[in-house]
Amino acid sequence: MRFVIIYWTRFGNNKKIVDYLAEKLQGEVQIFKTDEANPAAMPEADFYVFSSAAEAFRLQKNMMAFMKNLQNMDGKKYGIINTHAMKKRNWLKKMEKLLTKKNMVKVAEVDFRMEGDVDNAEGLQEGWEAKLDAFCAKLK
Ligand SMILES: Cc1cc2nc3c(=O)[nH]c(=O)nc-3n(C[C@H](O)[C@H](O)[C@H](O)COP(=O)(O)O)c2cc1C
Repeated sequence: MRFVIIYWTRFGNNKKIVDYLAEKLQGEVQIFKTDEANPAAMPEADFYVFSSAAEAFRLQKNMMAFMKNLQNMDGKKYGIINTHAMKKRNWLKKMEKLLTKKNMVKVAEVDFRMEGDVDNAEGLQEGWEAKLDAFCAKLK
C-alpha cells in the first residue's frame, strides 16, 4: 500500500502524530508539510491522510488552502486528523466538506483535544497512540 500524508503543525503535535503513523502504516509512506507538496499534482497513493491543527476558530489556513487547491483526486480514499484546544469543537466536518467537494472518499477520522498549555509538543492526551492505532486499522 502507498500512503501520502499531508500535515500542518505549529508546535509539533501534528508532526508527532504523522511520524507515529508513518511507523505504523504497512507500506510506502510519504510525508509532506503543506508547503512541501503541490495540491494540484499529488503523488499517486492508495490512501491520503490530512492532519492539521485548528487555529482562529477554523481549520488552520494553510491546510484549508491546500485542500481547496487539490485537483484530480476523484474517488481517492482519505483519513483526516484534527487537533484542537477547544473542548467541544473540532474541525473534522470542515475537512470532510472540503474533500467531499473533490469527490474524495472518507475511510477514517480522529480528533485530539490538546491538554493543558496548548503551545508545546507535549499536548497530546494519554492514550493518543491507541486512538491512532484504531485510525490506522481503517486505512485498508
Ligand atoms: C494562534 C492560535 C489560534 C488557535 N485557535 C484555536 C481555535 O480556534 N480552536 C481550537 O480548538 N484551538 C485553537 N488553537 C490551539 C491549536 O489547535 C493547538 O495549539 C494545535 O492543535 C496544536 O497542534 P500543533 O502542535 O500541531 O500545532 C490555537 C492555537 C494558536 C497558536
